[in-house]
Amino acid sequence: MSKRTVKKCVCHRIKFEDIYAVVIEQNIESLDELIDQKICGAGCGMCHPYIQKMLITGETTFAPGDVYIHAETG
Ligand code: FES
Repeated sequence: MSKRTVKKCVCHRIKFEDIYAVVIEQNIESLDELIDQKICGAGCGMCHPYIQKMLITGETTFAPGDVYIHAETG
């Protein structure tokens, strides 16, 4: 993994690990729910693919572009 990591929604200033804690606590199942509740993702949208992967895998730290590499290779 690169030394640089993606680990937060910059616009909302909240770490993915803190978002994931809310996901578990409130049984949230989608990015849209997080946006509707203004927890994250309502700004630039750059975090969206990372949050979507977090919702599937539970990962909260990513290499930059990680989500795009896996999307292209299937
Ligand atoms: S980084 Fe999450 S909305 Fe901008």
